[in-house]
Parts: sequence; C-alpha cells; structure tokens
Amino acid sequence: MKIAFSAPSLPERGVLVVGVLDDRELTASAEQLDARMNGGIVRAMEASRFRGRKDQVLALVAPGDGGLDRVLLVGLGKAGDIDALRMQAVGGKIHAALANQGHKAATVVVDAVDGCSTAPAEMAAELALGARLRSYRFGKYMTRQKDEDKPSLRTLTIGCDGAGEARKLFGPRQKVADGVFFTRDLVSEPANVIYPESLAAEAKTLADLGVKIEVLGEDKMKKLGMGALLAVGHGSARETQLVVMQWNGAAKPGAKGAKAKKAKKDAAGDEAPLAFVGKGVTFDTGGISIKPSAGMEDMKWDMAGSGVVIGLMKALAGRKAKVNAVGIVGLVENMPSGRAQRPGDIVTSMSGQTIEVLNTDAEGRLVLADALWYCKERFKPRAMIDLATLTGAIIISLGDEKAGLFSNDDGLAERIAAAGADVGEAVWRMPLGEAYDKAIKSEIADMKNIGNRGAGSITAAQFLKRFVGDTPWAHLDIAGVAWSKKDRDVVPKGGTGFGVRLLDRLVANYYEKG
Ligand code: BES
Ligand code: MN
Ligand code: ZN
Repeated sequence: MKIAFSAPSLPERGVLVVGVLDDRELTASAEQLDARMNGGIVRAMEASRFRGRKDQVLALVAPGDGGLDRVLLVGLGKAGDIDALRMQAVGGKIHAALANQGHKAATVVVDAVDGCSTAPAEMAAELALGARLRSYRFGKYMTRQKDEDKPSLRTLTIGCDGAGEARKLFGPRQKVADGVFFTRDLVSEPANVIYPESLAAEAKTLADLGVKIEVLGEDKMKKLGMGALLAVGHGSARETQLVVMQWNGAAKPGAKGAKAKKAKKDAAGDEAPLAFVGKGVTFDTGGISIKPSAGMEDMKWDMAGSGVVIGLMKALAGRKAKVNAVGIVGLVENMPSGRAQRPGDIVTSMSGQTIEVLNTDAEGRLVLADALWYCKERFKPRAMIDLATLTGAIIISLGDEKAGLFSNDDGLAERIAAAGADVGEAVWRMPLGEAYDKAIKSEIADMKNIGNRGAGSITAAQFLKRFVGDTPWAHLDIAGVAWSKKDRDVVPKGGTGFGVRLLDRLVANYYEKG
C-alpha cells in the first residue's frame, strides 16, 4: 500500500475518512462534510452507538446523493489524550476498516484539534505509520486466492496542513516499518525455507544498506571454542551459523588523519557500540528431550530474537541512525538424530565454563551463552541487549501482552521500559538474584541448563547473566509477544516484530549523537 500526503481538502468522490472526538464532537473536516451532506454525519451518529470513542469506527456506504462511495467516521477519543500512539492506533483501525472493502484508494483528513498539543503534521505521520504497520500481510504462499478476497486498498492519501512536513516526518518512520516488516517476514517463513544458512543469507542483504556482515560457520566457531552453541546444532543436517552485523553510523565519514584520530579519542566513550544479540533457533523440536507434537509448528518462530535483531539493523541503517550498533545472531536448528546431543552431556562454552545439558529443549540459553560471550569479548559494547523466545514460563507470567525484562543495570532497564512505553511495546521487569542463581548449580559441571521447578524464566536469565561479565546487559524474553493469535491495532495476527520499534526508539532516545 502506498501512502501519500496532500493538502487537507475534502474530495467529492471516492472514500473519505474524517475524525470525530469523544461525545460526538466533530473535527473541522467532519463538520464541513456534515454541512455538505445536509447533516448526514450527525444523523448517522445519532442512529448508531458511535460516540467518537477511541476504538470506534462507523462506515456510511454511498451516503445521501453526494458522490462519495463511503464515509468512514473514526473515533479519536478525548482531545487531551491524543498522542503518537493514539494516532498510530487510529491509522491501524482505518486500514482494517477499509483494506478489504473493494476500494482502491481512500483519503483521510487530519485536522488540528483544540486541546491537543500534537501538530497535524505529526499526527498525520503517526497515523500513516499505524496504517502502514497494520497493512502487513504474509501472503506469498496463498497462490490461489481470488482477487476479490485480497486486500483492495492500494493508496492511502493523508490530507493535513503541513503535508510536506508530514512527509518528512514519515520518512524515518517508514524505514522503521521496513525493519518491522523484514522481521515479520523472517518469523513467518516456515523452517524448510528459513534455516541457519538461508537466514544468514537474508541478513547479508543488509549489506546493500551499508551494514557490514560477517558469517561464521562451524569450523570457525569450533576454533573459537563455542561448544554450547555448536552442541545445539549437532543433531541437525543444517550447518550452524553465527552472523555479525555492524552499523557504524556514529563514526564520522570523510574524517581522516590526525584530526579524526583525535576526535575519535575524545569521543572514545561514544565509540563503543551498542550491541544486540538474538536467539535464532530456526526450528526447535526440543532435540532428544523432544517436545509434544501438538503445537510444535509454532517453533518455526523460535528464531524471532534473531529476526528482531536483523530487522532492527535494517531499521537503523535504513534511517541512517547516528549510532554504532552491532547485531549478533546465533542461528541453529534443534533436531533429534543419531548425532544430537543427549541429556547429561557436558559441553564447554567459549567462556570456558562447563554446562551440564540436562534438557536439550533448554537450548536457547546455550545459543546465547556463546553469542553473548563472543560479543562482549570482541566488541566491549557499552551495553548489550539480547532477545529470545527463551521460555514458556514467561507466557505463564505475562501472557502475550508484555515481554519479560531482566537486567543487571537499573539505568538500562529504565531506558528500555521507557522506550517500550513510547512505542506501545510493553515490557515488565522481572527479578534476578543469588537465590535464583543457586537453582542452576550442577553436581558435576559449572552449571546445569535447567532450574529445579519454579521461576523458569528467571533461572534462564540467571544462566545468561553468567556470560555477560560486567557489561551492562538486558535480556528480553519475547516468547509471549513474538507471535500474535489476534489482530491488534498496528499488528495483524502472526509474527509481530515486537522489539524492533522498541530498540529503535531506545537508540533514538538515548544513544544517538546530535
Ligand atoms: N523455544 C522454547 C520456549 C518457547 C515456548 C517459546 C513456547 C515460545 C513458545 C525454549 O527453547 C524451550 O523449549 N524452553 C523450555 C525450557 C525448559 C526445558 C527448561 C520451556 O520453556 O519449556
Ligand atoms: Mn527449546
Ligand atoms: Zn527454543
């Protein structure tokens, strides 16, 4: 779907969307349209339960004797509550109400609203982002769908004062949406299409945006001593991969010689990258500790953490973020076979710490153990954030509304929570502590890969903490939020891309220069 911005005039034909505030208070364009329709808008509201509340829409099909095919009234809620997230939700609802109605184009008019501090251009850009995010569809394998069953909407024009400004504001937002879409694509693909090597190949496409990509294969990882990550892939016919992505947006291009060296030295603290690490289990059967077959198909999205890191790098590079960022993803398939690791095996991680693998289904932490350690040793990052569909237990704790946040650094945790609130990707801080750490004590090795009974998400996070040293670190357990069974305002059901917008905002709010 194409999104265009224009001056705020009411079209005579086609599909028109206007806003209504709470208690049926018409916006300027709604009022203008109501006059043109001889009171048709007010009559339609009175004949229905539509009050202009934030989650309401009301469609008027071929109203009156005018030339419009459809008028959509969209509730904006209370003027004082209108903010970026509200406008995104409005954009999403507009898309949902119009995309499948047979119309090819629609115009939304965004007015200045009394008592709302957000300018129309910004409201328009946020509405556009919401519509765009909601328009995502993973339809490539639906080869026999009839045209009349496919979404019809091709162009959404948003009319507002300052259309040029709105277009400019939408630019970087659209790049972030591109990153979200990339993540959703990767997460939605089945495991016969996306496996470690093919996922690494997808990451490589970011080179076009100026991201530096390295792919480490099994030989290289063996030399580095990544016994934990490699053990997970041992039963698979697919080769395990580790992908390192670097976006150096803070390094000043063109600055050369002594002056640049000095500038670099002065800014030494700023030069250390921010690092993102993702669990990329392209399919998790559980291995020899095999999962029940019911619902196992969901484990195609056990690579969501890596998908988010890859999509985030696309977003940052796409909008040319002034930050040095590293993305590292451990890509592996967890399969049972004659070569698979067994319960009771003891593996040696790159850190030198030994791990007793008591359950081969607790594989994500083995992947991250080596990826985190490698990241810390090689890049000495200013902060390191990992994402993983790590535990079923986090779904018991938080359901599909919030991701679990674990951190050894209160400041970092607060920044992540604030960024999440800004973009509507909520996280909830979970505790860490010595008492939980005791649960992964092994009788025979430095640690075991499962806890005893309770607090499964926390003992998993304690395990990860043993591989980050003193680096400020946060872990996002996204098992509950990576996939949605229902449509949401700006997230259609399926792969959500949860984390891309949050971490992009974290970078924008706290780590970007200038
Ligand atoms: N990938 C799963 C966690 C998961 C479960 C993600 C459901 C999304 C939906 C992970 O590898 C796993 O199997 N974890 C085990 C750990 C247990 C064996 C300690 C779990 O949560 O049951
Ligand atoms: Mn597992
Ligand atoms: Zn897993």
